[in-house]
Amino acid sequence: MNRREHLQGLAGFLAGSPVAAGWQDPGRALSIGDMINVFDFDTACRHRVARDAYDYISGGAEDEFTLRRNRSAFGRITFRPRMLVDVSRLDMSIELFGTESEMPVFVAPTGSHGRAHPEGEPATARGAGAAKTIMAVSSSSSFPIEQIAKAATGPLWFQLYAGPDAEGTRERVARAVGSGCKAVLFTVDAPYFPHRERDLRNRLIRPEVQRELAGRRRRPDEPDNTRYGLPQRFTATLTWSFLRQVAGYAKVPVLAKGILTPADANLAVENGAAGIVVSNHGGRYLDGAPSTIEMLPSIVETVNGRVPVLMDGGIRRGTDVLKALASGARAVFVGRPPLWGLGAFGTPGVTRVLTLLQAELALAMGLAGVPNLAAIKRDLIAVDR
Ligand code: GLV
Repeated sequence: MNRREHLQGLAGFLAGSPVAAGWQDPGRALSIGDMINVFDFDTACRHRVARDAYDYISGGAEDEFTLRRNRSAFGRITFRPRMLVDVSRLDMSIELFGTESEMPVFVAPTGSHGRAHPEGEPATARGAGAAKTIMAVSSSSSFPIEQIAKAATGPLWFQLYAGPDAEGTRERVARAVGSGCKAVLFTVDAPYFPHRERDLRNRLIRPEVQRELAGRRRRPDEPDNTRYGLPQRFTATLTWSFLRQVAGYAKVPVLAKGILTPADANLAVENGAAGIVVSNHGGRYLDGAPSTIEMLPSIVETVNGRVPVLMDGGIRRGTDVLKALASGARAVFVGRPPLWGLGAFGTPGVTRVLTLLQAELALAMGLAGVPNLAAIKRDLIAVDR
């Protein structure tokens, strides 16, 4: 970094915006060695991938209120660090549902990696494997699960979108489990396709195409809400009994992903969920939903240790991971960061994003006086009112 760039970065830092902490306009091609935080990967990805693909990855629904709130809510939490604790042996390894990871930071299921990089999910899977963590593969992947599993060098989980055809859904789960996926994340927050205005403006997903697809996905006995301009995502008929069904046949733990209230967390556990993922789908569905970090404590309290609670949404720093763990999450997922890594640099970019977060988490744990995950307790943080 030369002096001008250093001063530019410093000015951005002092401006206080989280995004300003990364490169803004580097004025030259960025290399992976220039990346010092996750925001730098965002910038590099924006410069490297097609505009519509970048907007698809980084955008949210409507006003993007929830997308921003996922980030800003972390700013209301501060640490209460403890001193003179022996933090010479830092350990953040974790085992969940029989899957081991070197860090409590997993790759969230996100769709269409082929838009970010021609090698798509197989490249992401290799990147996550090199960082020795878990990747959750989306139902909307650009490559078939079998091909991703073959390329993978680490553990995989599978994210399930249930279609109108119950048999087809069951078959997708069987294929994923047969390919070696060790858990299923059943997404519960997407009965309709949202208005993502960046994508609409880019004509990435044209409304008429959405409606046509929705018509094809709808079962003949389902009401047709396309007359409200409401394209259905997969099927809007699902209720809690469907979770019970999937949990009954999956042969691996099934987690409910997309829970935002204690009441739904209870229902999920009562209907067979082996775990809860507190998520608002990265601000990509219901705009106006709360941030996940603000809902996490009440959900953890309600679940009361019956099943593990995980979360995603707005994690960009090791300190964010530590705040989420102190709020009661067993582990977190990151969605956009590995995609920015993939889009900018392929497999090594994915690995570097994950190891950067791991290094930042290690530093935060060391400075906060918590040498391992078991030592992270609620009194490590305070939340502004
Ligand atoms: C898919 O689930 C998406 O959020 O784009």
